[in-house]
Amino acid sequence: MSPIIEVKDLSFRYTHDGPLILDSVSFKIEKGTITSIAGLSGCGKTTVAFCLCGAIPKSMPGILEGSIMIEGKDIKSLSLPKLAQKIGMVFQDVDNQLFLPTVEAEVAFAPENLCLPYEEIEKRVEEVIHMLNIETLRYKNPSHLSGGQKHLVALASILSLDPEIIILDEVLSELDRKNKELITNVIKSLNKAGKTIIIIDHDINNLMMANNILLMKNGKLVDIIEAGENHELLYHRLSDFFLQQEY
Ligand SMILES: Nc1ncnc2c1ncn2[C@@H]1O[C@H](COP(=O)(O)OP(=O)(O)OP(=O)(O)O)[C@@H](O)[C@H]1O
Ligand SMILES: [Mg+2]
Repeated sequence: MSPIIEVKDLSFRYTHDGPLILDSVSFKIEKGTITSIAGLSGCGKTTVAFCLCGAIPKSMPGILEGSIMIEGKDIKSLSLPKLAQKIGMVFQDVDNQLFLPTVEAEVAFAPENLCLPYEEIEKRVEEVIHMLNIETLRYKNPSHLSGGQKHLVALASILSLDPEIIILDEVLSELDRKNKELITNVIKSLNKAGKTIIIIDHDINNLMMANNILLMKNGKLVDIIEAGENHELLYHRLSDFFLQQEY
C-alpha cells in the first residue's frame, strides 16, 4: 500500500537570505500509524508540521523546495480548505488558532465553512464536544480559557472536519494529568479507528505511544526509530538520542 504521507527532499527558509530551517528532509508515513517527531527546541519540528498541513507556504510565506504528497496527491494542488479535510493540526501556539467568541462557534466554524447541512454540523459539534468532554466550556470565550483548555478546543475544532491525519504540536505537555489521560485515550481510539496521528513533543513519556519516531537535529532528519510495539527499545533509543545532543 502506498504511504498516506510522502515527503521528499523538503527544504525551507522563512526568508530569502535567512538560514536553512529544513534541510532535505525525506520520510514516509503509513496510514493508521502513530508517528512522533522529536528533537531539541529549534530543530524544525513545528516547521515540518506547518509544511505538512499547508500553512507553509499557503499562509506563512517562505522558500520551499521538495515535495509533499498526501494520499498520492501533491499538496501544492490542494486548496487550504481541501487540505484541512485531510489533515488537521493543533498548533503549539494555540492562540493563533482560536478567534471566535465561543467554544461552540470554534467547533462549528470549519464544517460551516464547507457549507455542510445544518443537521450534519450540529451532529459533528455534539459528537466532538462529547468526545473531548468540554460540555462545560461550550459557551465560554476561548480567550478566557487556560492553555490546556485552549488546546482541547483547538483539537475539537479540527476533529469536527473528521480529517484522516491529525497533528498535535506539543499538546500533551500543556494538559493537566486528567486531560492528558483523556486526550491520550482519544488519540488511541482515533488511531484504532484508522486515523493517522503525528505527535510532536519534548517529553519522552508522551512519545511512547508512537510506532515510529522521526529524530531531527538542526533542520535535518537524522534517524528514524521503527519500534512498533517494542516500547523498551523505543525508550532506550530516545533517551540515548536526547543524551547525545546535550554534549
Ligand atoms: N516565523 C519564523 N520566521 C523566522 N524564523 C522562524 C520562524 N518560526 C521559526 N523560526 C526558526 O526556525 C527554526 C525552527 O523552529 P521550529 O519552531 O520549527 O522548531 P521546533 O523544533 O518546533 O522548536 P520547539 O521545540 O521550541 O517548538 C528556529 O531556529 C526558529 O527560530
Ligand atoms: Mg515547535
